[in-house]
Amino acid sequence: MPNLLRKRAALLAAAAALAISPLALSHLDENEFHQSYRQSYFALLGANFGPIGAMVKGEMPWNQEQLQGFADDFAAVSTLNVLRGFPEGSEKGTTRAKPDIWNNQEDFASKLDDMTAAVATLQTTVAGGDRGAIAQQVGAVGQACKACHDEYKSKDYLY
Ligand code: HEC
Repeated sequence: MPNLLRKRAALLAAAAALAISPLALSHLDENEFHQSYRQSYFALLGANFGPIGAMVKGEMPWNQEQLQGFADDFAAVSTLNVLRGFPEGSEKGTTRAKPDIWNNQEDFASKLDDMTAAVATLQTTVAGGDRGAIAQQVGAVGQACKACHDEYKSKDYLY
């Protein structure tokens, strides 16, 4: 086969493999898709909130440009529809989501909205550059995370 054709065939084979098994190259567990999907969402939230908290606490040097980048990403990630990751039946498996979530879906969604709103406010507060106000809003976001975790997230895996 001429070189170009061979390359094209290899590309097609790779594309076909991806189409057959979209999860094969991801961290999402095929057997527990929803559990790993929502955990990935929360892990990304934590990955952006972590350095913001560290800067506010003085554990990391303050860098306004970096801080804004984390705050922008934090806000963007928070608006993804993670409720998609909580369908009926997904309370089993490798998860720390308490079964109570499925009996209190409105309250759970409202706690999620509170968090998203607090993160959006943090994004604009960071843009304002007032360190005191930023620290205060970081506290408010932390409270919004905690309000849900206290109620709906267990410390250990449940099953
Ligand atoms: C509306 C409820 C709710 C809110 C708000 C919430 N969480 Fe969670 N979080 C959960 C639940 C439920 C789990 C457990 C998911 C599972 O194991 O299936 C979780 C898990 C996590 C995890 C562990 C993810 C993993 O790798 O397993 C981290 C980190 C986390 N949350 C961070 C945060 C941060 C940071 C915030 C605030 C910015 C936040 N969460 C706000 C409900 C919430």
